[in-house]
Amino acid sequence: MNVALQPPIKNRPPLSQAPSGFFMTLRDIAFWIRSARTDAAFGRLRKQLGAAEAFDVLYQSHRDPYAAALPQFRYQRLKYERMISMLPPRHFGDVLDIGCGIGVFARYLSPFGDRILGLDLSEQAIIEARARSMGHENLEFVQGDILSFDGDGRHFDLIVLADTLYYLAPLDDARLKQIAARAHQMLAPGGLLLLVNHFFFSIDPASRTTRHIHNSFRWVPGLEQVAEYRRAFFLATIFEKIEDRSTTGSLEKPVGPGALA
Ligand SMILES: C[S@@+](CC[C@H](N)C(=O)[O-])C[C@H]1O[C@@H](n2cnc3c(N)ncnc32)[C@H](O)[C@@H]1O
Repeated sequence: MNVALQPPIKNRPPLSQAPSGFFMTLRDIAFWIRSARTDAAFGRLRKQLGAAEAFDVLYQSHRDPYAAALPQFRYQRLKYERMISMLPPRHFGDVLDIGCGIGVFARYLSPFGDRILGLDLSEQAIIEARARSMGHENLEFVQGDILSFDGDGRHFDLIVLADTLYYLAPLDDARLKQIAARAHQMLAPGGLLLLVNHFFFSIDPASRTTRHIHNSFRWVPGLEQVAEYRRAFFLATIFEKIEDRSTTGSLEKPVGPGALA
């Protein structure tokens, strides 16, 4: 069964439908080649410098290494617009965008939340995000690592985690469980987590990794999947923080991909 094509789970209040039409242009192909080159450069730099410095070097040399705001490439803009359209029409209080990069999606979120906090491992990305977000009074950007950030006591009504997890190495099940549990802990009751990662054709290795990442968030008893969208070329899953009704539910119990079937 291709769970990526499932409609929203249960009879939840409807989430707005995202537009799904897409065709690839030469510019889109150029965008993917550019992204692949950036990722290859990151892989080389990480071996020498570690992840944080590697991202710093990328952001220092390109300012927008993932073409998040370059007008000649439409992919990221379409992705952000589609992500916004997937959110329920409600105003959020506190919002957290993890792996915010240069803050483009945080700025998309600005009209929909009281306080938007962007977090990124790269200090250089944060400097760029702040510079590009002058005039957005409700945006704040801080340098930090998803692996250690705990919200500083804040609880968020919406957490966004887009195209960030596959940069973690290693990204094994223990780490995925830790991140999912941390996201759950930082959500306010009823809060939403929007998880987004590249997704192409179900069978290619990158898409299988994405599928595994998204499935792993179901391991947390207090996170319920409420919607999932497959779009060109990403998978978006929305989870809601619910009261943990499982009597034995604990992050310590042995769970794994087999438990998700
Ligand atoms: C491909 S960019 C995605 C940016 C943005 N979320 C988007 O969808 O356009 C990945 C970002 O994740 C950040 N990142 C990678 N590892 C991280 C970590 N451990 N903690 C926080 N941010 C991280 C990188 O610095 C980079 O800015």
